[in-house]
Amino acid sequence: MIGADLACAERIVAERGMALGRPLHVLSETESTNDDAKRGAKEGAPHGAVWTAEVQTRGRGRQGRAWLSSRGENLLFSVLLRIPCAPVRVPLAALVCGLSVRDAVARAIGVDDAALVKWPNDVLVSGRKIAGVLVESAMSGTRVDYVVCGVGINVHARTLPKDLDGVATSIALERSSRGVCGEIDRAVILADVLESLDRDIEHVLQRGLGIVHARLSRHDALRGREVSVEGATGVAEGIDLDGRLRVRGPDGNARFVASGEVLPRL
Ligand code: BTN
Repeated sequence: MIGADLACAERIVAERGMALGRPLHVLSETESTNDDAKRGAKEGAPHGAVWTAEVQTRGRGRQGRAWLSSRGENLLFSVLLRIPCAPVRVPLAALVCGLSVRDAVARAIGVDDAALVKWPNDVLVSGRKIAGVLVESAMSGTRVDYVVCGVGINVHARTLPKDLDGVATSIALERSSRGVCGEIDRAVILADVLESLDRDIEHVLQRGLGIVHARLSRHDALRGREVSVEGATGVAEGIDLDGRLRVRGPDGNARFVASGEVLPRL
C-alpha cells in the first residue's frame, strides 16, 4: 500500500525536469532502499535512479545501526549517482546531500533557518535529529563506479521511541510547535531534495565543496560548540573545503577530522 502523497511522487518529480528521480521506484515495502540502489547499480541502472519505500525491513543507519521507521510515517529514499570523480571526494556527497535535505526540511517547516547540518551526515531542528544520510559507494579499479545517497527524514512521526526522547524530532512535531497548519506532502519534500542535490552534486564531486561552502557554513550546527570526535576535543570551528571538521583544542592547536561520530550526539 502506497500513501496518496508518495503515489504522486513520480509526476511531481518529473515536473521539475531534473536528472535525478528518473526512473523513480516507489515501493510499498523493501529491505533497504540503499540495497535496492546498489543492486540497481550492478544491474546497470542509470545516474539519477531513485528508490523510495513506505517501510524498510532492514533499514540501516551509519556505524551499523538500524534505521527504524513505521510504515508510511516518514520519507525513506536512495539516489544512485554515477558521476566520475576521485575517491577522496565521495564523503563530500554526504555533506551536499545533507545540505539539500536541510533546505527541503526548512521549507517544509516554513522557517528557513530552522534546520542545520550536523557534520558529517545529520540534519537537526531545535537541536534534535530530524534526518540522516548514509552514503555508500563502489569502486571499479581506481575510479568511483557509483555513489548511493540514502536518506531518512522523520516526517509524520508524533511519538518517538523513549530512547530518542529529546534526541530526535519530526517535521510534523516542528510544524505543530510553530503553529504551521496543512498537509505535509512527502513527494514535494522528495522533489525539493532531489532538485537541490541535482544543482550541486556534480560540481562538488568533480571540483570540491567551494560552490556550497558558504551555505554549509551558514547552516553548520556544530560551529562554536564544544565537541569530541575521533580523539579531538575542543571547539568546532567549521567545515573546511575538503569537508573536514576543524576542532580547536584547549592547547590552541587546530585539528582537522575527516570522518567520525561527534559527541555529544546533539
Ligand atoms: C544515519 O543517520 O545513521 C543515516 C540513516 C540513513 C537511513 C536511510 S533510510 C533510506 C536509506 N536506506 C537505508 O537502509 N538507510 C538509508
